[in-house]
Parts: sequence; structure tokens; C-alpha cells
Amino acid sequence: MSTYDDHTDQRPLQEEPEFNRYIDAALSRRGFLKATGAASTVGFFAASPISQAIASTVATPSALLGFEGIPISTDDTVRVPKGYKADVLISWGDAVIKGAPAFDQANDAKAQAMQFGDNNDGMTFFPISDERAVLAVNNEYTNNEYLYPHQGKTISADDALKGQAAHGVSVVELVKKQGQWMVNPEGRLNRRITAYTEMEISGPAAGHDLLKTTKDSSGKKVLGTFNNCANGETPWGTYLTCEENFNGYFANTKGTELGDTYARYGLGNKDRGYDWFKHDDRFDMGKEPNEPHRHGWVVEIDPMNPTSTPKKRTALGRFKHENAALMVDKSGHVVVYLGDDERGEHLYKFVSKNKYQQGSAANRDLLEEGTLYVAKFTGTEGELKGKGEWLELTWGKNGLTPENGFPDAASVMVFARLAATQVGATTMDRPEWVAVHPEQHSVFVTLTNNKNRGVKDSQPLNAANPRAKNPYGHIVRWQPMDGDHTASAFEWDIFVMAGNPEVHESGLMAGSDNINADNMFNSPDGIGFDRFGRLWIQTDGKYSNKGDFAGMGNNQMLCSDPESGEVRRFLTGPVACEITGLTFSPDYKTMFVGVQHPGEDLAPSHFPNGGTSIPRSSVLMITKEDGGVIGA
Ligand code: FEO
Ligand code: CA
Ligand code: CA
Ligand code: CA
Repeated sequence: MSTYDDHTDQRPLQEEPEFNRYIDAALSRRGFLKATGAASTVGFFAASPISQAIASTVATPSALLGFEGIPISTDDTVRVPKGYKADVLISWGDAVIKGAPAFDQANDAKAQAMQFGDNNDGMTFFPISDERAVLAVNNEYTNNEYLYPHQGKTISADDALKGQAAHGVSVVELVKKQGQWMVNPEGRLNRRITAYTEMEISGPAAGHDLLKTTKDSSGKKVLGTFNNCANGETPWGTYLTCEENFNGYFANTKGTELGDTYARYGLGNKDRGYDWFKHDDRFDMGKEPNEPHRHGWVVEIDPMNPTSTPKKRTALGRFKHENAALMVDKSGHVVVYLGDDERGEHLYKFVSKNKYQQGSAANRDLLEEGTLYVAKFTGTEGELKGKGEWLELTWGKNGLTPENGFPDAASVMVFARLAATQVGATTMDRPEWVAVHPEQHSVFVTLTNNKNRGVKDSQPLNAANPRAKNPYGHIVRWQPMDGDHTASAFEWDIFVMAGNPEVHESGLMAGSDNINADNMFNSPDGIGFDRFGRLWIQTDGKYSNKGDFAGMGNNQMLCSDPESGEVRRFLTGPVACEITGLTFSPDYKTMFVGVQHPGEDLAPSHFPNGGTSIPRSSVLMITKEDGGVIGA
């Protein structure tokens, strides 16, 4: 299944159109960025250096971007700029746990449980010393056409278990030898977390009746995490893994009507072909109707303790989590920005009740309790900027009451999507990753694409999602009021509107002014800042290189200067892959980047091993030949 287009929205309610329409033609392409950026310097943006700087065009090459941009590629290889190299660190099926067998497509479930999982996605590098580190990596899903020699046509009990073992998280110890990071197969911290690892459910929904199953009458113990998309990390040294398309693993053999709270999460009678339900009752909602309530959360893992129990943090809400962009606000509260990747779903923010205190053991409970908010964007017709407000998702407030279907506080967290609709959140074009600028004055979110925008009544055009059918995606940026991330008010603009200026001469389909024939791309997904303020952008887009997507080539990674708005292509991936996952060593001299699902749907790829080998998702290490800082 292609990840470009697999997010079917379930939002049932009609959204009130904010304005009659946003007219493409009214916005000249020239001046787009100036108009949005320069106007933003008014009001409480005035003090921000980024909004002032963005007014000064992209004509001068950015001093922040110190590499030569590269052309698109349709080849089955990874390309990086002159002076850089890309090496494979680890691939699906490589040994992680001591004694694991070497990769073989015919490996069974037991072997897979000791090996690197499939479809690596978000990841975080945790340094231990200059020569020792741990890399925690999500393994989002499986490509059954490669996972099994029989391509997944009939799933046996062992096949289902192998599939579960290929999901979750891989924790891999690294050592640095001769200046290069490599996997330490003897590492004491090496660990596999799978779709059957025991975990604790914590926070406001823990122990609620909605989370109890035949095998867990406590509603606090759950097996496994799966569809772990992107990630986050905390200053107290833990890893956050985000459960995204969990619905795709559940079937309902009874075929009974499950109701709105299931439908809103895309839970229907059929699964997405994994067939786990045939061998494991947990995945048959006809037998275990509450099991899906135990997935769709953010999970906190201590990567330094291989026997620790991961915790599902229900205070952060249940939806199709993309990443968890965690920062400590100047007030001391921990703020986590969260996207829900589905057409017409929402952007969220969690604010911890308690404050972060450096070195305190109490930090470990900061994600246990707090307030969840959802974003409402408003704008001025014809302008791609505006104001916004965080709406509180607290039981008893904003109509989140029993008469509206929320009998208690836990129900608001378990059915966060329905709560967001109740309070009037803005429908978005699939919120993917959120990234906070290192100086914390602004926050960016990728809105990857949305074919239903302006098509379905539930998702009319709105100021922050102004392009009908949005085939290319865009990146919205906001600044919290007075730099206070706990505040309810913010101002926003569109940082980049991806587009194709070669195919479309003008209007929103051509993209914003910082998009040209040399740097165009579609479907921004992974984003992250380095310490120097460079914004790295990864794509999960259409790689047909035809029609609307002509001249865009394979999926890629770009780098942007958030001040000037300049975007430059840094890396191109192999055939039919997505580029996702981004983390750095603390010296910023090694960048880890993920190549996910090369050759998906049996497209002709042999990445990374070449010859006639089957393609394998892999983590790359990018270094500079002169040993310098990446991107500088
Ligand atoms: Fe797993 Fe929304 O990407
Ligand atoms: Ca993906
Ligand atoms: Ca993604
Ligand atoms: Ca995506």
C-alpha cells in the first residue's frame, strides 16, 4: 500500500466553511512569500527576527545552507551533495539481539523478534559517551510482499507472529570506531519492542472500563505497540513512539455495527490485510471490542533500561499520532505538539500540569497529567496567514459533557477526535510532523496532502488549508503569543506551499515563491531542526515523476533556512521509498536518515544490497568527507 494516499478520513460532520472560497488566482505567485511573511511582522510578531528576515526574499543564497543542492533522481540509489557520503547503518532483518541469525527472507517469527524491525520511521540518537550511544528506531509496519517468501498470500500463525515481531521499536546500541558509528551486536542495551511486548497504560484513561479486555480486567496492562510512525524525545532521556494507523490491524468477524466511536477511527469489519485477527483474538473486535481503545497513544520508553516497561500516555489523547514534538516552555511546563495524520483531522497540544526540574526524578511523571488542546485556525480571506486559538479538551468544559457523549474525563482522551469536533477544531490537510525551532519562537507542521479538501462537505477550504484537493501539501508555521507555548493564542502563516511551477504557471498549484524547478517536491512529512536552525524536510509523496508530479523524482530530503525561506534539495532516495526519520549525533557531524519501504508494491528496487536482492528499509548515516557539520 502506498503511504501517499492511505489515510481515509472518517470525519462525519460538516464543517462550516470559513469563507465562501479562497481563490487561487487572486494570489499571485510572485510576492506570495513576501505577502505572507512581511505582513506577519505586524503586531506581536514585530520582535521576531524570523518574520522580519523572511520579508527579505529568497534572492540571496542562504548563508545557513552550506551545501550545493542536488537534482532530482529516479534511480535506485541514494544521492547526497558533493562532499557528503551516505552509508547504511542497519537494515530490516539485521541482528539486534545477541545470538540473532543473519537476515534471510525465510526467517521465522523467533528470528525476527531478535532482528531489526521493518519500515524504520522516526528515531532518536541518545548519546552515552563520545564513543557509545543508543539509537531508538520505530518500525512502523511491514511490506508483506517482502516480509514473507510467499508475499503474504496466506498468513500462518507463525507468519502473524513474525509480522508482529517486525513492528514496534528497535533499540540499538552504537559504538564509534575509526570515527564512524556502527551497530554493537553485543550491546547490553539492545532491545526489541514488538506488537506483543507488555506495557502499562497510564494517565487519565488507565483502568477505565473502555480499556478492559478478557485478558486484562485491570484496563492497565496491554500487549504491544504497532504502526509506530514518528517519535519524540524528552530532556529526561526517554523516547516517545507514536501509534498511528492502529485501525488497520483490527477486524470484526461478527460483522456487527460497532458505532460512531469506532467509525471515526476507521475501525471497520476488515483489517488492512495483516490477518493477525485470524490467529490472535486481540485483533478481532467481535471478540475484544475494547482492544482498539488500547492503541492510538503515545508510548514512553526508557532506552537505557532494557527491562523497563513502556508506558502508554493517555493524557496525550488517542488518535493517529504522527510525532510528539516535546519542548520545555519558559514557564517550566512541558509542551508536546501532536499531529493526527488523517484527512480533515486536527493538530493538538499537551501542556503538563507539573513543571520540569532539571535532574529531578519527578520528570518521569510529567506526561502523566496535564491539559490537552486542539487548534482552531482563523484567517482573512485571500491571505495565507491569520490567528489561532488552542481549544481546551477538558471534561466538563466546552460542551465535553455527558449529554454530548462524554460521560467522564477518560472518554475525552479515548475519543479525542470526537472531542475535537465537539469544540470546533479546524480540519487540517493531514498533520504529519511538528518541529519546534531551537530558539522556540516558532513551530512548524507539515500538512502532507489532502485530496478531499474542498471536495467533501466535512472539509471545505479554510485559511490554513486553502488549496482544493491539495496534491502537494504545505507547511504551516505559528508563533505563540508572547513566546509562551502554554498560551491559548497564536499567529500563523504558510511557510511553504509545495507545488509544481513547471506544470502550473500560477496560482496555488505552482507553489509559494520559495519553490522553483530546482527544488520542487510534494508531500512534506518528516521535519526537524538541527541545533543551528536549519529545517530539514522529508517527503512521502507521489514518485511517479509524471503529470502534476513531473520533475519531482523519487522521495527526498530538503533543507530550508526558516529565515530566508530558501529550500534546497539535500538527498534523493531509491525507487518507491519514503524518506523518514531524522536524528543527529550531538556534534552534528553524523545525521541518521531513514529510507522506508524501497520498492513498495513490488516496484523494481534492490536497495540497499543491489543485484537481485529484495529491497529492505534501512537507516542511513550521512557524514561529510571532511568530517564537518552536516549542512554547514
Ligand atoms: Fe506514518 Fe503519517 O506517517
Ligand atoms: Ca510511512
Ligand atoms: Ca510520516
Ligand atoms: Ca506520510
